Amino acid sequence: EMAEKSGYDHFTIKEIHEGPNAIRETLRELNEVKKVAKKLKNIKRICFVACGTSYHASLVGKYVFEKLLGIPTDVILASEFKYSVKTLDKNTLVIFITQSGETADTISAIRMAKNKSKTLAIVNVVGSTATREAEYVIYTRAGPEIGVAATKTYLTQLTCIYMLAASLSGKDEIIDSLKKIPEIVKNTIKLENKIKKISEKYKDAHDVFFIGRGFSYPTALEGALKLKEISYIHAEGYAAGELKHGPLALIEENVPVVSIAPPGESYDKTLGNIEEVKARGSKVIALGSKNNKDLKEISDEFIPIDPSVDEFLSPLVYIVPLQLFAYYTSVGRGIDPDKPRNLAKSVTVE
Ligand code: G6P
Repeated sequence: EMAEKSGYDHFTIKEIHEGPNAIRETLRELNEVKKVAKKLKNIKRICFVACGTSYHASLVGKYVFEKLLGIPTDVILASEFKYSVKTLDKNTLVIFITQSGETADTISAIRMAKNKSKTLAIVNVVGSTATREAEYVIYTRAGPEIGVAATKTYLTQLTCIYMLAASLSGKDEIIDSLKKIPEIVKNTIKLENKIKKISEKYKDAHDVFFIGRGFSYPTALEGALKLKEISYIHAEGYAAGELKHGPLALIEENVPVVSIAPPGESYDKTLGNIEEVKARGSKVIALGSKNNKDLKEISDEFIPIDPSVDEFLSPLVYIVPLQLFAYYTSVGRGIDPDKPRNLAKSVTVE
């Protein structure tokens, strides 16, 4: 097992480091993605179906597809899908995202959707059940992922979503931007030591909130999921605009707020939300462009990201520091991040 970890302490950190290459390998699937895109005609509605981290990738899909294609897009948890089956028709494309291709809820959702709608599965494990059940398949090329918490596979799922949306919309410039992402992610991973220090400071927190708007909302949800899965700290991801509808009541000095604030349309409003939580005594850990001085000044901890990454592609980059944050918090609390209690890599019961 030591040899398989190639010198890393855990699979989780090894796999975070494999993120850039996993994206690169997945980008090589572009021609396959284009072939699938060509066959998808007369789509009037898109419906993503998935569980866990794959569900969060699907949420990013909604923002990407609605922005680029203007096609109404829903995201449904696989375990809740049966309640929506009546809405399916032949002009609906149902996209299933599943790393393992074996998640029971997702597989049974594919079986419910086929013959009613077009079905497409985005899958990491070659030859898995999902690849046999769906009409179309796109592979993520992350390689095997051993850590229970999904890390590099999330990046590759997002890569497929952007490639598919770019192919369907004919916007090739998105592919050019995507090609720059592996290098940017690699540089972001270099913040590892800084993030480790931050996690040491906050590792005894009982609750942590993660907030973001638009493209950063799924990032907030996924950052919170990573932290709860492997560090056992109660964490909640929230759309920053919803804070005032409940969670603000819980915000106080000992509740750190991780704020995802890439440059773009949502930036000013997110900054406003950060001011709100600061006023209530919270410590703020902010992620944003390294050029955004105002963000750096207002936050207690600042994680500086490449300024060329705006909110549209931010999900691919901004999640990486949050994966590292969860990993180092887990290790700092004496937990084995690779095998969190009560969780399985692939859930084959409904
Ligand atoms: C389990 C894993 C998660 C994963 C989810 C969905 O809960 O622990 O990491 O995101 O299943 O798995 P899938 O293979 O369908 O993507």
